[in-house]
Amino acid sequence: MNTNDKVAGTPGPALRFEVDIKPLFRELDRSSMLDHFDLWNYDDVVSNQDAILGHLVSGSMPCDGPWPESDVTLMRQWIDEGSHP
Ligand code: HEM
Repeated sequence: MNTNDKVAGTPGPALRFEVDIKPLFRELDRSSMLDHFDLWNYDDVVSNQDAILGHLVSGSMPCDGPWPESDVTLMRQWIDEGSHP
């Protein structure tokens, strides 16, 4: 179950970074990746969104275990909708 109230694939308002995506990134994720980009920063995530999604889909990131499929779907849907802030 997602920790937020959006269910991937359902109609409704577009997903937003601040509300729906940023909370998916833990403090550990952010601190581990800060040398590359800031996962809590909208511009940084948008600039790297294809690489980020690719690693989430392959399961190679986060380094300590893959995301649930439902969260990967949310990330993909957010990008498909135009990566709203
Ligand atoms: C949702 C969380 C995370 C995402 C989306 C993510 C995403 C990425 C991406 C896209 C890269 C490639 C960066 C590049 O080539 O410039 C990467 C590299 C890497 N990540 Fe993460 N990451 C996450 C969490 C973590 C965590 C928790 C760790 C370890 C504690 C970690 C360790 C690393 C390491 C060691 C690399 C390789 C760096 C290198 O080769 O220089 N990441 N990650």
